[in-house]
Amino acid sequence: MKVVVVGGGVIGCATAYELAKAGCAVVLLERATPGAEASGAAAGMLAPLGESSAAGFRELAVASWRLYPAVVHELRERTGIDVEYVTRGTIYALATVHDVREAQSRAQWALGREFGIEAWDSGEVHAREPALSAKVSGAMFVRGDHWVNNQRLVVAYAQAAVAAGVALITGCGVSRLIVEDGHARAVVVADGERLDADVIVLAAGAWTAPLVASFGERLPVEPRRGQMIALAHVPPVLTHCVHGDEVYLVPRPSGELLVGATVERVGFQGAVTALGIAGLLSAAIELVPVLGGLPINRTWYGFRPWAPDNLPILGPWPGLEGLWIATAHFRNGILLAPITAKVMTEWILTGRPSLSLEDFLPDRFIMRREP
Ligand code: FAD
Ligand code: GLY
Repeated sequence: MKVVVVGGGVIGCATAYELAKAGCAVVLLERATPGAEASGAAAGMLAPLGESSAAGFRELAVASWRLYPAVVHELRERTGIDVEYVTRGTIYALATVHDVREAQSRAQWALGREFGIEAWDSGEVHAREPALSAKVSGAMFVRGDHWVNNQRLVVAYAQAAVAAGVALITGCGVSRLIVEDGHARAVVVADGERLDADVIVLAAGAWTAPLVASFGERLPVEPRRGQMIALAHVPPVLTHCVHGDEVYLVPRPSGELLVGATVERVGFQGAVTALGIAGLLSAAIELVPVLGGLPINRTWYGFRPWAPDNLPILGPWPGLEGLWIATAHFRNGILLAPITAKVMTEWILTGRPSLSLEDFLPDRFIMRREP
């Protein structure tokens, strides 16, 4: 089966890799370089209990989290790339007694045990992470929250994909799709060349909507800008990932501390702003006062692919043969890449994914035309 995957972010690279391992002839088209957009801009946190409480989402997120140790090992074996998988856990700073009680009850869940959830009082918090502000009077600790270097992860997936036989073409933007007789037949690249395929997978992140518009349909995927900062973190002041209400802090083995992130509805305005950076830094310094003295290494932004219900869009395009969507991973695309690649491959090749994905079908956004 010949498959064209459009978009070389983490979702496109991981999916191309799995499809090639399963025997498909895959062409992966990326208009820039792998990881040039959201996948390179992210913080790399793998925190399945954190950012959405929708039941279907949690099942998907936990399934992906469980795949990570094997994925990290496999990518290392196949490419030699260490994706800096860190398993020290996240401290969620809590301010009220109510929050601490809530954390104590979470610690009793079945998943709470798998994820090593603990409620910490002020003494424990400051014994474990002494740089935290004295204002942090308690915390929920999630030992199972992990993180990776997402820039390395995308490169590793891209290299593994090429080693598995994927034809990766960089600097190659797709301008439109060709649909004939109810079948997605081909993509047209910027120089006008037509590439035919049995299956086309759209994994173009926040830029998926124009590709759908090119065959006269509509998918409400939009960008949500995220600004980030990297502080120089040598010698390190934090051991764990730390989450406050307005900011998160990710200590990288490379010697940087990532401070993230804004979530902004500003279209594709590509800018790091004074307000964005000021807000992140003031929240970070309030949480960990000593950060005020650290040098700023870098700032950047990325465009998260977002859908109106905050959930990914995964699955076949209804009423058209040969077209599949894998996008809108919003704040969790790094976490969700392994499971997305797995279920998309199962679905495309056997017609049946191993998880129920009803909540994520593109159908939920498609306006049906009157016959
Ligand atoms: P992208 O990485 O944006 O890739 C899409 C690719 O398609 C791009 O490379 C683009 O160049 C290419 N493309 C677009 N149009 C075309 C075209 N017409 N032809 C060819 N190529 C095209 N997630 C987590 O799990 N954990 C985190 O800690 C985390 N932190 C984040 C922090 C920030 C600041 C941001 C911005 C995001 C964060 N995310 C995080 C979310 C995560 O980055 C995204 O969900 C994920 O990267 C989306 O991957 P993607 O491959 O769909 O999109
Ligand atoms: N998941 C972190 C972010 O989207 O900022």
